[in-house]
Amino acid sequence: SERYCVIGNPIAHSKSPEIHAAFARQTGQEMVYERCLAPLDAFEATVRALVAAGYKGANVTVPFKLQAADLVDRLTERARAAGAVNTLVFNSSGGIIGDNTDGAGLVGDITRNAAIDLEGKRVLLLGAGGAARGAVVPLLAALPAELTIANRTLATADTLVERFASQLAQDQRLAACAFEDIAGPYDVVINATSASLLDAMPPVPAGAFGRGTLALDMMYGKAPTRFMLFAAAQGAQARDGLGMLVEQAAEAFLLWRGARPETAALLDRLRLAI
Ligand code: ATR
Repeated sequence: SERYCVIGNPIAHSKSPEIHAAFARQTGQEMVYERCLAPLDAFEATVRALVAAGYKGANVTVPFKLQAADLVDRLTERARAAGAVNTLVFNSSGGIIGDNTDGAGLVGDITRNAAIDLEGKRVLLLGAGGAARGAVVPLLAALPAELTIANRTLATADTLVERFASQLAQDQRLAACAFEDIAGPYDVVINATSASLLDAMPPVPAGAFGRGTLALDMMYGKAPTRFMLFAAAQGAQARDGLGMLVEQAAEAFLLWRGARPETAALLDRLRLAI
């Protein structure tokens, strides 16, 4: 059967093999999905070896998403906007296509799993690194009234907004601001900073959240992150990144296999297991 894998370093913790095995079972497809540990200095060689071995595609995770964007023969539009690749498709002709399903996974989790329609909503995106960049175009496509990007280093958020605004015909919905200038409450607040990895929290003011705010951290783990705890203390509905993980995987599966799996039951099952 056709082979896929997830490439990262480290990779032992990855839940992607479990997720894709569940998708394959559910859609009745024959496929193999493995973990692949790439040496930090040999991502490209690892990918070439997978192509030579006849793999059909791969997911890419930390720390290789930017390198993956450099290596591919063609980027999808959303991968180009993100400047990063999390899904590779290996053509029968030997070419490599790079896509990014993270942003679609985020929006899918918000709209499908959390059942929040983003149209007309005020959305605050925290962070201006790779994770935030990948979320901008998919979020705007869901038609929020406002998408504000706040970052510790304001200049990085400004640059990001200028870049997207020029691509998107001066989209008036996009703005950058410093954390101390955040004026909420927002309907949706997304933590795309890497702060939760360090058990830290971006300095977001309590006023960003109101009752009914969805506060989504892209990270997940056994315990709620500091961001989630702080948001919940302000009356927000806190959500971690597990749903986004499952949804980005479903988008990759669709790309490779032509079928979009159901995600709700799997998400419930994974939730119990972490
Ligand atoms: P990723 O690929 O996860 O987005 P990245 O590109 O290194 O990682 O970006 C990290 C983001 O998290 C940045 O927006 C960073 O803010 P700066 O641009 O000011 O560095 C943000 N970040 C990391 N730790 C943070 C913290 N403790 N508080 C606030 N923001 C933090």
